[in-house]
Amino acid sequence: MSNTMKTLLSGVKPTGRPHLGNYFGAMKQFVDNQKDNDCYFFVADYHALNLIQNANELKQGTIDIVLDYLAIGLDPKKVCLFKQSDVPQTAELCWIFNAITTMPYLMRAHAYKDAEAKNKEISVGTFDYPLLMAADILLQEADIVPVGRDQKQHVEYARDTAEKFNRIFGDTFKLPQPLILENVETVPGLDGQKMSKSYNNTIPLFAEDEEIKKACMAIVTDSSGEIPTNVYAIHRLFRDEAYLKKLYDENKGKYKILKEALITDVIAFITPIRERRKELAKDLPAVLQILKQGGEKAKVRAENKMKEIREKVGVGF
Ligand code: ADP
Ligand code: TRP
Repeated sequence: MSNTMKTLLSGVKPTGRPHLGNYFGAMKQFVDNQKDNDCYFFVADYHALNLIQNANELKQGTIDIVLDYLAIGLDPKKVCLFKQSDVPQTAELCWIFNAITTMPYLMRAHAYKDAEAKNKEISVGTFDYPLLMAADILLQEADIVPVGRDQKQHVEYARDTAEKFNRIFGDTFKLPQPLILENVETVPGLDGQKMSKSYNNTIPLFAEDEEIKKACMAIVTDSSGEIPTNVYAIHRLFRDEAYLKKLYDENKGKYKILKEALITDVIAFITPIRERRKELAKDLPAVLQILKQGGEKAKVRAENKMKEIREKVGVGF
């Protein structure tokens, strides 16, 4: 590994079928970054336990995420792909962080404040979410943490926690930087709002042709303009502006033709990754083997760091 190589780490919660917004806004950057960095990507199954309390669902969700990432091109030979629970040192470190963190500080977390504002019952696990995430990040000594904008505060929690630990016990952790794709525009959904699972306006990343056709035909168009803005905004993900300008100029007002052109492009993009995912899904033992090997590697690194941490706090001799 060269000196300029950075350690990149990120976690994904197994929360359902990804869509084009997830792919262009977040998932793709894992694949783009794998070549030039030492990468660690994991399924945050312990974090998900706050939401999913059904063993089969959690297992399936974990496998689905791994299949999704392998299908879009993560190469398990280049990156370490694992599940969080295979590194139990994370929970151990989280406990140590619990001891040096105050409740008012955790109460400032957006996720906690949102849940409280909605009068939701908050589990201890949800309250402690930022510290488990800090442990994920600091244990692997990540330099860079690629995340969506909503996760920025959590990376700040990891930095603060590292600084606090270093102040109390001596220099131990490096301070991670979030990597947020500021210039990635929000991918709009079928109705022009942000594409999101919660708005039911998505084109799933691994959709079948019929589903793609149905979704694209349902894109909301207004009758006033000549360019159907919502169709164009999704089309831009797949074609350059010069190509689109010609196509949309030649077909002013012909929404059906433009939607059909979009369908052709979406299908051409999705078909190979969808078919690849199906192939990968046939060999579950291979997927489990990838997770196992990744878990072993991540655990060895974590245990090395943990030895140092245990000594620093006085529980390791
Ligand atoms: P959803 O809104 O569908 O529930 P998530 O909140 O699970 O999506 O988002 C997972 C990741 O995908 C985040 O990093 C988020 O920033 C990114 N993302 C989600 N929707 C979009 C979108 N429409 N455009 C760009 N990025 C998105
Ligand atoms: N909290 C992240 C999310 O909801 C998932 C996550 C868990 C994570 N641990 C992490 C992301 C460590 C980056 C680094 O998307």
